[in-house]
Amino acid sequence: EQDCRLKLIESRVRAFPDFPKKGILFRDICPILKDPEALLAVTSLFEEYVKDKFQQVDLVVAGLDARGFLFGPLLAQRLGVGFVLVRKKGKLPGATVSVAYDLEYGKAEAEIQADAVSPGQKVILIDDLLATGGTLFAACALMRQLKAEVLGCLVAVELKDLNGADKLKPHSVYSLLQYE
Ligand code: PRP
Ligand code: ADE
Repeated sequence: EQDCRLKLIESRVRAFPDFPKKGILFRDICPILKDPEALLAVTSLFEEYVKDKFQQVDLVVAGLDARGFLFGPLLAQRLGVGFVLVRKKGKLPGATVSVAYDLEYGKAEAEIQADAVSPGQKVILIDDLLATGGTLFAACALMRQLKAEVLGCLVAVELKDLNGADKLKPHSVYSLLQYE
């Protein structure tokens, strides 16, 4: 039945050529959120993977504004742990740490509140999609700055030919759907 859930999720991802720029094939996950069964499939697959693979998880940390926030809180609640936001620069009050990073179609700066994660905490990073890995790499860099331990990265969709998983090594990447 894992296969059944993956098929359902796959049926809820659309591809848009040349968005947001010419040459980019945009994988749109909005239909997953519109279908409660598909959203439940994503959450339950992530939950089963994490419970199976890691003994202790202290926090779920979102890969980033904005689509990283979609699955993160649902998973965190299932695991009974807190959820933390990594945001694009300038959105979070108080003391923060930040890092610049590259995207498949641009540049950005990621930021987290300095007290969001404590040294030694074991965290799971989550985002909707892995492309070049620049975003999750930046989130890993923030975790390093705050001395947290990254257990692994979770994404719903992995774009294989951009080799994001290589960029994130030695951290592991678990993806539900893979595209070339
Ligand atoms: C998208 C996506 C990931 C990132 C993946 O976010 O949600 O966070 O790109 O690309 P990468 O692996 O090459 O870093 P985007 O920056 O488009 O912003 P959004 O979440 O606000 O749509
Ligand atoms: N983020 C980076 N690359 C993407 C793509 N091809 N589709 C959807 N989101 C993305």
